[in-house]
Amino acid sequence: MNRNIVCIGAGYIGGPTMAVIAKMNPDRKVYVCDINAKRIAAWNSKNYALPIYEPGLVDVVKEVRGKNLFFTTDIKSAVKKCDIIFVGVNTPTKMFGRGAGRASDLQFWEATAREIKGYADGDKIVVEKSTLPVRTAAAMEAILNGGTGNGERIPRAKRVAESDALAGVGTGNGKAGTGIRFTVLSNPEFLAEGTAIKDLLSPDRVLIGGPETVEGRAAVREICDIYAGKDGKWVERYKILTTNVWSAELTKLAANAMLAQRVSSVNALAGLCEATGADIDEVARVMGADRRIGSKFLKAGPGFGGSCFKKDVLNLVYLCETFGLHTAAEYWSGVIKMNDHQQERIVSRLFKAMFNTLANKKIAMFGFAFKADTGDTRETPAGYVARLLNEEHVRLAITDPKAIENGKRDLAGLDGITWEKDPYKAAKDADAVLLMTDWKEYPALDWEKIFKSMRKPALVFDTRNCLDAGALKKIGFRVLNVGK
Ligand code: NAD
Ligand code: UGA
Repeated sequence: MNRNIVCIGAGYIGGPTMAVIAKMNPDRKVYVCDINAKRIAAWNSKNYALPIYEPGLVDVVKEVRGKNLFFTTDIKSAVKKCDIIFVGVNTPTKMFGRGAGRASDLQFWEATAREIKGYADGDKIVVEKSTLPVRTAAAMEAILNGGTGNGERIPRAKRVAESDALAGVGTGNGKAGTGIRFTVLSNPEFLAEGTAIKDLLSPDRVLIGGPETVEGRAAVREICDIYAGKDGKWVERYKILTTNVWSAELTKLAANAMLAQRVSSVNALAGLCEATGADIDEVARVMGADRRIGSKFLKAGPGFGGSCFKKDVLNLVYLCETFGLHTAAEYWSGVIKMNDHQQERIVSRLFKAMFNTLANKKIAMFGFAFKADTGDTRETPAGYVARLLNEEHVRLAITDPKAIENGKRDLAGLDGITWEKDPYKAAKDADAVLLMTDWKEYPALDWEKIFKSMRKPALVFDTRNCLDAGALKKIGFRVLNVGK
């Protein structure tokens, strides 16, 4: 078995993860492949115009690209060269057929499994890096090794005794007539966008789930070695947690669902604060001071966005329903319902504050990315709010430091929307500024200048509670916040 690594999928997860793996393992060659030639060309661009914006990413890519990190569309030869294969392809919510709107669409993932099987010419460890429904490894194993894909649980004693005959967790024979053995592991990724490089360099934990067989345990050790880094200089061993495959797959969905649930819980309380005179930032600060609760993910705002929270919670709902756990499914559905409601509430409050008519008014939207420090706009609350405002015939001027290109693509076809790099230009002659993303640039703007350029009465709706409301009021603004 060689030490080379290939990752299939060069997106938000494949690119940064493999760049850091290459940096921390200079003695291994790392290949990142994609079917999207444009994306690979951007990863390879001479001026480092990478396909995604992530603080610190360019520096890591500069350090390792061409040395031990290679981006390529040639999946076939990369699979042949590498005995460790990470799969980081997209797993969006399925929008058709059975499970539409909730289940994961596994077509890209399955196509990858078939590609690996077609190209492999020796034993391989296949690592699920994408977020997948629990028990997907059994299906992957069935495609790679043959078998039913049921992944039936085999009693531990029997499994250990038969481990030579078992390649992995499923019922495959591990050879499928080709003489090639594939061992499937789950290594979900916990990085957050905007802090991806920091999260990868010093993660809270790394999770590796593997089958409890001789080959499974050996494969888990191989992947532990990658994360330990050359000379043990990367992740401390105690932070590398190992579990069975199903626990690893489910933990990823569970962790995202718990984080999303906290955001929905605090937003549910925010409405009550607005109705009663309590202040959500004070309530969150004091709640979070209890170490059992903790202070993270208690920031009220426009609701969560990003490519994963919604799809992973929906996937959990679908899994619960599939296993007949209807009350649990309903519970997790509530997290999404609350999130959608938060964005509708923003538009309702704006409507009311602007004298129950928004038609033809100009609103400057500050921030379109789903959070600061990323250009990613997938499931951004700003997109949802922009569509609702568009229905009200608002003239919307949207500004964002990194997300204008993605935003334009998302809202293509909607009339009455302009895009401005410069926030001062966006705010000129506007009736209101609606702050949707907490970019650190925004509190530092000259708000007196903005006030002077706006129509009066000038309103600021700060959905992230990141501006100095007192100072804005002194200037003359009417101010709305979330949870106050
Ligand atoms: P993405 O869409 O940015 O990237 C996926 C890439 O896979 C695309 O470039 C696509 O062209 C490529 N691809 C699809 N099918 C392929 C095939 N058959 N062969 C080669 N390439 C193929 O998605 P992402 O944000 O990187 O997410 C990928 C997975 O990682 C998802 O399951 C997601 O839930 C999970 N994840 C993402 C994050 C994040 O921060 N974005 C964090 C943790 C986990
Ligand atoms: C999230 C998780 O934090 C990662 O651990 C996980 O790997 C990733 O999803 C994934 O699976 O894709 P990410 O979506 O990149 O990461 O960003 P977060 O920082 O979690 O923010 C998600 C959303 O929640 C953002 O819209 C953010 O503004 C919002 N949020 C977050 C709040 O409204 N309040 C908070 O207190 C925290």
